[in-house]
Amino acid sequence: MATSTSSDSSTPSESSAPAVEVPRKPAARIRTHHLHQAKVNGERFAMLTAYDQYTAEIFDQAGIEVLLVGDSASNNVFGNETSIPVTVDELIPLCRAVARSAKRSLVVADLPFGSYEVSAQQAVATGVRFLKEGLAHAVKIEGGKFYAETVRAMVQAGIPVMAHIGFTPQSEHALGGYRVQGRGDDAGRLIEDAVALAEAGAFCVLMEMVPAATAAAVDAAVDVPTIGIGAGNVTTGQVLVWQDMAGLRGGRMAKFVKQYADLRTTLSDAAKAYGDDVRSGQFPGPEHSF
Ligand code: KIV
Repeated sequence: MATSTSSDSSTPSESSAPAVEVPRKPAARIRTHHLHQAKVNGERFAMLTAYDQYTAEIFDQAGIEVLLVGDSASNNVFGNETSIPVTVDELIPLCRAVARSAKRSLVVADLPFGSYEVSAQQAVATGVRFLKEGLAHAVKIEGGKFYAETVRAMVQAGIPVMAHIGFTPQSEHALGGYRVQGRGDDAGRLIEDAVALAEAGAFCVLMEMVPAATAAAVDAAVDVPTIGIGAGNVTTGQVLVWQDMAGLRGGRMAKFVKQYADLRTTLSDAAKAYGDDVRSGQFPGPEHSF
C-alpha cells in the first residue's frame, strides 16, 4: 500500500569524501486516509493483532499496515476462554506498549465488552481513554446499525472508529455461538449495518465470518474500506490474530486461518533444549560466565 514517505533515498556519494551516515527519517505513519486511498486505488492492506512491545515492533517493521490491540487479548494473553471478561484497565497498558513500539502502523484498540454499550457518552469516554492513556490512533467497536449514533458521537469527539459487524465475539451468547452471519436473506441486514455505520462516520468496516458473496455486497455498498476475517477475498484489508497466523496457539484452527509459522514447536523445542542444558550442566558454559 503506497503512503507518502519522508525516508531518505540518497545514493552513495561518488566523491572520495568519507561516507557520512545519513540518518534515515522514519517512514510516514499510516493514517485512516491511507486505508481509504487503498480502496480507491484497488490496493490491499494487512492487519494483525498485537499486544506487546516485540510483536508490535516486528509487525511494524514487517510492513503490516494496521495493528489491532484486540479484545482477543482476553483469550490470547490473559488466559480467558472468550473475549468477554477483558477490561479497559487490562487492555490500556497493552495498547500503550504497542503504540509506543510501532513507528509506522496505525494502532487500533478494541473497546471491550461493557465499555461502550450503555450510551454514546460511555463510548466517547472509553474511546478518549484509549486515545489518551493507551495512545491508540483509532478504536474498534462491535455491533450493527444500532450503534450508528454512538459512532457519530465518537467521531464528533475526534475518535476515529472502525466498525466490526458479522460475527461479533462479544455477543457470542446472544448469537448462539460461533456462527457464520449474513447467509442468504440475512445479507441485507449486514449491508444495512455497514451503510449506517459508514454514514455515521466509521472510517472502516470489519466483517467477521461472513460468506464471501455477502462480504462483496457489503464492500460494494460502502465507500470506506472493508477488512475481512473469514469474509473471503474481496475486502481491502485482511486481519488475523497473530498467535493463529504464526502458529503459537496450537490446537484446531478456524477454517479462515492460514498458519505461516509453527512458533509453538519452535518455542517448545527451545525451552526443552534450555532445560536439558541446565540439568546436564552444559549451560552456562565458560563463555557465559564472568
Ligand atoms: O480482537 C480481535 O482479535 C478481533 C478480530 C477481528 C481479529 O476483533
